[in-house]
This record gives sequence, structure tokens and C-alpha cells, in this order.
Amino acid sequence: MSHGTGTDGVAPLRPNVVLTGFMATGKSTVGRVLAARLRYGFVDTDRIIEERHGPIPVIFAERGEAAFRALERALAEELAGLSSLVISTGGGMLLDPTVADVLSATGTVVCLTAEPEVILRRVGGARAGERRPLLAGGDPRARITELLAERAEAYRRFPQVATDGRPPTEIAIEIESLVRDGSAD
Ligand code: S3P
Repeated sequence: MSHGTGTDGVAPLRPNVVLTGFMATGKSTVGRVLAARLRYGFVDTDRIIEERHGPIPVIFAERGEAAFRALERALAEELAGLSSLVISTGGGMLLDPTVADVLSATGTVVCLTAEPEVILRRVGGARAGERRPLLAGGDPRARITELLAERAEAYRRFPQVATDGRPPTEIAIEIESLVRDGSAD
């Protein structure tokens, strides 16, 4: 009996595709499109954490960033046991080398990028901090520049896909070919 499986009836291993990158680089939007194209499941780590623990700004305010990072680490361990998924991660999740190793071992990691001005517009300009605690309480433009500089080296460890001015489907197709021809490994 075959359910679209390999010739010996055993389902072929379908490694995950993990999307990282700065806030508002389109990880969730592109991830959903990519999952539909690959016929993979889709998970968004921020949404899972919010379903289980409440809104991210509240987690940061009441328990602190370190507690949020611990939730991300625990979730990475949990997701590491699954395959055939597109996993869109929070922008800081793969900065943790342990998380990066754990999720890299489950498939291919790709980093989405955008110019700071585009990020600022997508996060809602001066209102950026309402949903994103790391951009709260200051000038979001300066904060974006500062965080991008701090994180540049960590993001550069992964193959980069630019998102500025590109429709999600086009970005998803580029990721698919990176994954298929193995150049993202
Ligand atoms: C964060 C990014 C956010 C969210 C949290 C921290 C970060 O996710 O996980 O606010 O450290 O870059 P998005 O990248 O989906 O905005």
C-alpha cells in the first residue's frame, strides 16, 4: 500500500525548513506560502508561545526577556522531533547557538532580510513597540539599526534571501530552490 510514499512504501524523510531573520522580514507570511507549496505543515513559534503563555509583550513585561528566551529554547527542543514542517521563528530565536544547532539539525535554515527602512515601515513606524517589546520605549528607527548591527554576524551564518519589494510567492520559490539544490545546507 502506498500513500504517495517512496518506492518501498516508507515515507521519504522530509526535513524541515526553518525561517529566521529580523522582525518584520516576512517570516510568517512567506512561511505559510512555502508550506502550502511544499505540502508541509506550518508552525510559527511566536504564535505557539502566545497560545500557551499569553501575549509576547506581557511575557517580556512580567517575566523578562530571559524567560521568553527559555520558552523559545524549550519549543526548539520540542519541534526538533518533528519533520515536514516550515517553522517560522521569532527574530531572536536562532541567535541562541544551541537553538540554532538544534533546529539546523532538523533541516535547512534560511534567513530572510529587509532594509531597515522597510522593516520600520512594516512594524508600524512609531507604533512599533506596541507588539514588539524590543522596539518599545525609544526611537524604533535607532533601535532597529542597533539590533541589526548587533545581530548581523549571527544572521550571516545562514543563507540569506532578500524580501524587499518582492511578493511572498517569489520569495518562497527562491527558498524552495535553495532547499532543493542543497545550496542552503
Ligand atoms: C523578537 C522577535 C519577535 C518576537 C519577540 C522578540 C526578536 O518575533 O519573537 O518580540 O528578538 O527579534 P518576530 O520576528 O516575528 O517579530
